[in-house]
Amino acid sequence: MDTLLQRLKNAKTSQELETIRVEALGKKGSITQKFSELKSLEGEAKKELAKTLNNLKMSFESIHQEKKTQLQTLELKAALEQEKIDVSLFVSNPHKTLGHPISYTKDRIIDYFTYLGYELCIGPLIEDDFHNFAALNLPEYHPARDMQDTFYFKDSMLLRTHTSPVQIRTMQTQVPPIKMICPGPTFRRDYDLTHTPMFHQVEGLVVDNGDKASFSNLKYTLEDFLRYMFGDVKVRFRSSFFPFTEPSAEVDISCVFCDGCGCRVCSQTGWLEILGCGVVDEYVFQAVGYKNVSGYAFGMGIERLAMLTCGVSDLRSFFETDLRVLEQF
Ligand code: PHE
Repeated sequence: MDTLLQRLKNAKTSQELETIRVEALGKKGSITQKFSELKSLEGEAKKELAKTLNNLKMSFESIHQEKKTQLQTLELKAALEQEKIDVSLFVSNPHKTLGHPISYTKDRIIDYFTYLGYELCIGPLIEDDFHNFAALNLPEYHPARDMQDTFYFKDSMLLRTHTSPVQIRTMQTQVPPIKMICPGPTFRRDYDLTHTPMFHQVEGLVVDNGDKASFSNLKYTLEDFLRYMFGDVKVRFRSSFFPFTEPSAEVDISCVFCDGCGCRVCSQTGWLEILGCGVVDEYVFQAVGYKNVSGYAFGMGIERLAMLTCGVSDLRSFFETDLRVLEQF
């Protein structure tokens, strides 16, 4: 029996350890078999042997457990070492990847608008009620707040549900003319095949003195932008509603998968909804103290654009941090 304990102590892998355990305590194991000898004994002799065997079994189990933990830790460490990604390693084809589809798409959008002279702005991810809702003509109890399932902190602080609060922050700190875009993360309590609790938007805002910024400027800009993003597509403006723009529109492009004929991706409509936009509502200008100005704004989801331009069908693959996804771009 000493050799059994000795072998246990010397085991090098958890597999070897398991073999020894089966040899000792398995159905036909040596210790198990010794236990069956008890049946043929009686009185003191039986008591003696039972005591010896129980002690043996206990020492075996305790050494086994200790050794198992020790070996498993070592094996885990070795596995982690082996699977470790060396980010500094030279890759044979460094030009193969465009980067993460979301950063790539975001950068393309930024390139387009900064080329036209738009300023790049950022704003806080943790917002207050005023900037995220009230100043955007979404007073408390406004039913449109339900459109945006919000993550709240205490004291009316929240994770911004869109990038539109950056419109307010920009107008509060600058004077017209303003031409800005704001890309960044946004948050909503939503999780299914096509929604994740964190996603990205790009906001755009143009404000000018008098009535210089018009809906037709907005229309021209967005049509040109969408052709830059998607090539030769049809663009249509559909009347819609946002509390902070009036009139408002949603913009669709002809489906890039079926050329507008109707397929599964566009739900047989031939159109894909891409962004929301409109002429800045007078109420928003009042909230930031602007007078005699005109403006337009637009907002789009980067994930949706990335899925369409990079041909990714499952939104979740953007967030699973699997390098094999990146290698395809
Ligand atoms: N903030 C709106 C949304 O998240 C998009 C939008 C921005 C619409 C600017 C109009 C103008 O859905």
